[in-house]
Amino acid sequence: MSDRPQVPSDLAEARARHDELSQVIRTARYRYYVLSAPDLADAEFDALVRELEAIEEAYPELQTPTSPTQQVGAPPDTAFPPVTHPEPMLSLDNAFSREELEAWAARVQRGLATDAAPEELDEDELAAVDPDDAPGVVYGCELKVDGVAIALVYRDGLLATAGTRGDGTTGEDVTNQVLTIDRVPYRLPLDDPPALLEVRGEVYYPLEAFEAMNAARIERGEAAFMNPRNAASGALRQKDPEVTRTRPLAVWCHGLGAVEGIDFATHAEAMGTLAEAGLPVAEQSEQHTDLDEVWAYVERWTAARHDVSYEIDGVVVKLEDLDQRAELGSTARAPRWAIAYKMPPVEQATTLKAIEVNVGRTGKATPYAVLEPVLVAGTRITYATLHNEIQVHAKDVRAGDRVLVRRAGDVIPEVVGPVLSERPEGTQAWSMPAECPFCGEPLVRPEGEAHHFCENVDCPNRLRESLAHLASRGALDIEGLGEQTVDLLLQEGLVEDLADVFRLDQRREELLALEKWGTKRVENLLAGIDEGRQRPLDRVLVALNIRHLGPTYAKTLVRAYPSLQAIRDAEPEELEAIDGIGPVIAQAVHSWFATPRNAQLVDELIALGITTDAEVEDSAAGVDADLLAGWTVVVTGTLEGFTRDEAKEALEARGAKVTGSVSGRTSVVVAGADPGSKLDKASAAGVPVADEAGFRHLLQHGELPDDPEAG
Ligand code: IVH
Repeated sequence: MSDRPQVPSDLAEARARHDELSQVIRTARYRYYVLSAPDLADAEFDALVRELEAIEEAYPELQTPTSPTQQVGAPPDTAFPPVTHPEPMLSLDNAFSREELEAWAARVQRGLATDAAPEELDEDELAAVDPDDAPGVVYGCELKVDGVAIALVYRDGLLATAGTRGDGTTGEDVTNQVLTIDRVPYRLPLDDPPALLEVRGEVYYPLEAFEAMNAARIERGEAAFMNPRNAASGALRQKDPEVTRTRPLAVWCHGLGAVEGIDFATHAEAMGTLAEAGLPVAEQSEQHTDLDEVWAYVERWTAARHDVSYEIDGVVVKLEDLDQRAELGSTARAPRWAIAYKMPPVEQATTLKAIEVNVGRTGKATPYAVLEPVLVAGTRITYATLHNEIQVHAKDVRAGDRVLVRRAGDVIPEVVGPVLSERPEGTQAWSMPAECPFCGEPLVRPEGEAHHFCENVDCPNRLRESLAHLASRGALDIEGLGEQTVDLLLQEGLVEDLADVFRLDQRREELLALEKWGTKRVENLLAGIDEGRQRPLDRVLVALNIRHLGPTYAKTLVRAYPSLQAIRDAEPEELEAIDGIGPVIAQAVHSWFATPRNAQLVDELIALGITTDAEVEDSAAGVDADLLAGWTVVVTGTLEGFTRDEAKEALEARGAKVTGSVSGRTSVVVAGADPGSKLDKASAAGVPVADEAGFRHLLQHGELPDDPEAG
């Protein structure tokens, strides 16, 4: 990405390309800033700007004051009253590699060593400046929050205006909207508030809330928001602040604009004052004098970017010393004293080759995108779910479209939407096929459901997916029975239903006759199946593929009814009486067992030796459900004796609350191997940390050992 863009070899051509790029960039900025509906991925946009910059570097006459390289943001929308910023809101220059970061640091050093602005010196002059003449610098490192830039202007301690960036000089007045955000005080609780304090920050949509909101929208068949930034921008730019209030926006302050009546020597000092005033400031900031350490911060946070509760797209490195900042000054677009290192983008554009449909183990028909493979945040993406027909229509994605693909954290890859400006001619809107692509039976959409279903219980793909589910980790965890083996066994006619898996030991000869299957592979598979046969009862229930019955409900059920026969015999009212089981699950379990073909399957499985009774010590019975009531626990890193889910379950079974991020309310952080940034955060916040032995002690005794990290 940091390759130098190609520049046309003559001025006329350069001018034509310059015009073209300027137009595209202006439109993109308008869509991004004003409409909150970008149709270019950030990385594509950045690449266009770099190309424009390269052209202007080669042909300086093209760099007019109206060129997009000299401007930030987009003219404000007229729906909100304009607000003029006391000091222009600039943008930041970007670096995409260590070399570019080092080049910036060198420019800073040389700039401080001479009186001239760095870009006034040519390459040779710059190189001739002795860096030893430069005073020492301290680099402040901060996360770059991907949100909406905001300027909070406090006059005599009261919030006078809150404005969006707009074109950098004039933005939109969103004061009433901003006042709905928690932790933005109307009055600064300072003894002697300054005459003017212009606070700069980012408004963002916290990730968990964003994902929950989008999941709910998808469930209802509504269009999902593109990303948290657009959701934040949309929420902030609601005309009615009461609508904004219903969205859980947050803000994060990272600097100052104009100030009067107060003086700071360093950035950290200024941020300290903001924190004292109750404004949220950068939590993970660090100061370094050595560029190696700055780079280590960049690498650490690039790896840990999903450990924070908001989306970040880079690291901002800025000089700490405010006099040095003043000495370096700014260009029309960006300060010289700061740079944004951009992390690999979580959104990329690619071609949507086709929309296909999968039929899952419950018969649910899910459309998915077949993509031209694309690297998104380090992972190659070829398929992405499109959820259901309503979503495909809401997004209006079509085979042949160029689309944006997004992958953030553990969230499954998603097609965000089409790049309409690049839609080829002749594309067709998509609709759900009338028939199941696997069995040809009709696909139907039940009343009130967003999804279509194949109702054929003998649909070959339902069987395939049910077999894969039976063997999966959360169910019977059968080693050697992955999807490919399932496909092969089906193809060879060696299994025709779930029970056949446990009859494979009677077909050893046929297995041995399979191409490329030696004795070892056959014995491994049969051993894996035997282990599966012995998995605890709750896992058997999960393997049966009963609608709505996941691992947690299965455990709850087994705790109350520790035998398969008892569960089969239970009436829906009896199941519903179990603490934690509602009517929907009670009904689903009851009707599943009451269906004759399922009853027959269960009989066969019992005859084939599947676990039918829970071992009492295996279940959570006997655990004091209030042992850890009131505890809030964060689990991070890899534990040897527990998966993340098991640790969470063990804690919740004892009444503890398990959360994903460290805060003032965290009682303890349980840290396994390679714990990542949550551990640093815990130490910084003075939250106790327990290792695995300390964790076991906690589960047993309801308290931490005297030295939690020593067990
Ligand atoms: S300092 C003069 N620090 O990113 C601009 N900006 O792409 C000084 N941003 O305009 C900005 N996190 O809106 C700074 N920790 C951070 C930031 C940050 C996000 C935004 C800001 C800036 C934009 C540039």
